Amino acid sequence: MAIRSILVEGDPTLRKKTRKVEVFDAHLHTLLDDMVETMRKADGAGLAAPQVGILRRVVTIDSGEEVLELINPVIIERSSDQQLDEEGCLSVPGKWGMVFRPVSLTVRAQNRFGRTFDTEADEVLSRVVCHELDHLDGILYVDKVEYYIDPDKREEKEEQDA
Ligand code: CO
Repeated sequence: MAIRSILVEGDPTLRKKTRKVEVFDAHLHTLLDDMVETMRKADGAGLAAPQVGILRRVVTIDSGEEVLELINPVIIERSSDQQLDEEGCLSVPGKWGMVFRPVSLTVRAQNRFGRTFDTEADEVLSRVVCHELDHLDGILYVDKVEYYIDPDKREEKEEQDA
């Protein structure tokens, strides 16, 4: 496993669309292992492949209880109820803003061996899933932010960047 460097806003790679994963091989597994290690080192709640320069539909999420690996993820159901809360991004260091996200959703994805599964997410996890899936379409949370939080007034929060 290896730590990969995380691209920062302004890098054009973060704005590109990604392609579906078609081959579930050792190369993919290395990418996933590296992304998990990189996410943990950066103390992030999630990481998307474009953030490490790979234009494929791959996301890792640390729910606090387990690590989720989502390959070719698609949100198949989302609540109409929205939540407005704080969001940060490992690719936008030093900034936090308030973003609307669905309270809960169901995401369909493949695992590292290509097996399709559905998983439900709510509250913080729903937020992280939306944030990471946006990365796969070249969208950053700064595109959706309602307003930014003054970093000096920001209280020490449990939430991590993604
Ligand atoms: Co992010």
